[in-house]
Amino acid sequence: MRARINCRMNLALAALALALALCPAWGRQTGGPNKTRLKTLKVIMPSYSAELKIDGKKLDKPGFERIFKIPEDMILPAGKDSIELVATIRPNNYTLITRTRKVSLAGGVDIVVDLGKEDARQPDRIFISYLSTPPDIVEAMLKLGRVGPKDTVYDLGCGDGRLVIGAVGMYGAKRGVGIDLDPERIKQSKENAQAAGVADKVEFRQGDVLDIKDLSDADVVLLFLSQDMNLALRPLLQKTLKPGARVVSSYFSMGSWKPDRTELVLGEDGNEYPLHLWIIK
Ligand SMILES: C[S@@+](CC[C@H](N)C(=O)[O-])C[C@H]1O[C@@H](n2cnc3c(N)ncnc32)[C@H](O)[C@@H]1O
Repeated sequence: MRARINCRMNLALAALALALALCPAWGRQTGGPNKTRLKTLKVIMPSYSAELKIDGKKLDKPGFERIFKIPEDMILPAGKDSIELVATIRPNNYTLITRTRKVSLAGGVDIVVDLGKEDARQPDRIFISYLSTPPDIVEAMLKLGRVGPKDTVYDLGCGDGRLVIGAVGMYGAKRGVGIDLDPERIKQSKENAQAAGVADKVEFRQGDVLDIKDLSDADVVLLFLSQDMNLALRPLLQKTLKPGARVVSSYFSMGSWKPDRTELVLGEDGNEYPLHLWIIK
């Protein structure tokens, strides 16, 4: 009888051990064993209030340095040997920067991740809110870029397509290309091109301008984005545009890349618009 009870208890203990071994939430829920030896994770943030997500979980802990203790802070799912950290930065009310870092936990007991600066191997993604250029400033930009019949004109972040449509419609450009991350803007651009009767001379495509690899067919590149975005695009413009190509940026400069010309245009809306022109040498 006693032997039978012992045998049942052993079976029950074995079943419990198996269930615990198979339960993926064990490490997270109770501080049980993780594969990693990680004890503390220190994350250096780009700003005090930047949002941080670890493996998709938003962590409400402001500060320039965020220190997590393992397992107490319950940020680490059991059995993981790498995690993904995502910082969301809002340097102003029209720019959203997403900085992603994949981190191996094989590194040790106390790991420091620096999200304070961009890592060229895992570049930032940047999104700029939509704001359209007023019609008189569209004309001023096309004039500054000396857009003419031989030109292929790009607008990076094309909004409703007005710059590209103006380039082929008003200034007779050979071809226009507009790229925008927002599919709704691309739809709007195509409808506007159709309505303006220039659909056969323009191409609008959805995509991230930071994924563009080559602009060697462009004669003119138009930009109304942000300072961060201009700086991120600068290597592409400098490396792939042909000599004589023009870059026109509304409002924002290119850091130490000095413009060949800057005009301060007084818009019909009473605002002043700094327009910059660079000519590729
Ligand atoms: C300030 S608006 C300028 C619109 C248009 N160029 C104009 O001057 O009227 C910026 C545009 O860029 C788009 N945009 C923002 N970030 C982008 C990105 N990473 N890649 C492509 N388009 C982007 C937005 O959807 C928006 O339509």
